[in-house]
Amino acid sequence: MRLTIRRPDDWHVHLRDGAMLAAVAPYTARQFARAIVMPNLPVPITTVEQAIAYRARIEAAAGAGFEPLMTCYLTDSTDPQELVRGHAEGVFTAAKLYPAHATTNSSHGVTNVARITAVLETMQRIGLPLLVHGEVTSPDVDVFDREAVFIDRVLMRLVADFPNLKLVFEHITTADAVDFVDAAGSNVAATITPHHLAINRNAMFEGGIRPHAYCLPVAKRERHRLALRKAATSGSAKYFLGTDSAPHARSAKESACGCAGVFNAPFALESYATVFAEEGALDRLQGFASEHGPHFYGLPLNTGIVTLEQVATAIPDTLQAAGEAIVPFLAGQTIGWRFGGSEVDDDAAGRV
Ligand code: NCD
Ligand code: ZN
Repeated sequence: MRLTIRRPDDWHVHLRDGAMLAAVAPYTARQFARAIVMPNLPVPITTVEQAIAYRARIEAAAGAGFEPLMTCYLTDSTDPQELVRGHAEGVFTAAKLYPAHATTNSSHGVTNVARITAVLETMQRIGLPLLVHGEVTSPDVDVFDREAVFIDRVLMRLVADFPNLKLVFEHITTADAVDFVDAAGSNVAATITPHHLAINRNAMFEGGIRPHAYCLPVAKRERHRLALRKAATSGSAKYFLGTDSAPHARSAKESACGCAGVFNAPFALESYATVFAEEGALDRLQGFASEHGPHFYGLPLNTGIVTLEQVATAIPDTLQAAGEAIVPFLAGQTIGWRFGGSEVDDDAAGRV
């Protein structure tokens, strides 16, 4: 079987910098027309100038035909005027809220949402979406409860205080998040990763500790995975594709204190197609991958198409990146789909 859909976008990806950027950007550019690029570099992207320079490095690494959509990393001291300027100049597509110390390179993140009230008011006014890493960071909260507690302690209040703020609850992992998003207004949406659709928390402990299944937010119980699958394949415009592909060298993952992140970019569409096929919802993949995101962000749909073929595909044990081995999601496994390439012309789009 052959599936043809409008060219998709990745609404949440980590492309890194330097040699790692050069190695991983082509995987994302091969499958996606655009991507929302996370700003959590070791020196975070907090200014318009940094974003312009980073965008140019990404374009150089990804090659022609790929459009990086830049995000601003919010800190306690973000100047609302920087967002206004970046938005007006077409540099910032969104801004990212990392609670301080929630995840990789988030030490400069926001310590308390109350500190960025002026920023949120401005974003609501100019229509700049807020992308939220939705986990509390208090050590007294169990790691598996951090998303659900974030909803109660932070998100409920945030959407009540800023009822017109466009908000994306990123990489959701719980039934609680699905319930929250379903009940919220059309200004609230969520991204869902391929790995949270495919694995539950057992994957981290299968026969021993499995660092390549560790990411943040951490995978949860099976009932949560099932709720995510239902949401992603529901056809609801509130849910769209965001891989959260987060490459780390194998040596940084297989360590006494391994980094969080799943590198799923090389077989991202194949992974999503597997889930949608299993759920009998292949007819809804195009909405999730190619339409709901642009509608939410107010951006045009892509022209052109990609094809996916139902053919057994072996995923390698490792790939090379920045002179080191890197382990892709589903390494060593065989999945039922193969990416068959893209056509970028308008004629192809007319056929979708
Ligand atoms: C991301 C990273 O490595 O930058 N890691 C992850 O597990 N997803 C950060 C993030 O999105 O939390
Ligand atoms: Zn991420």
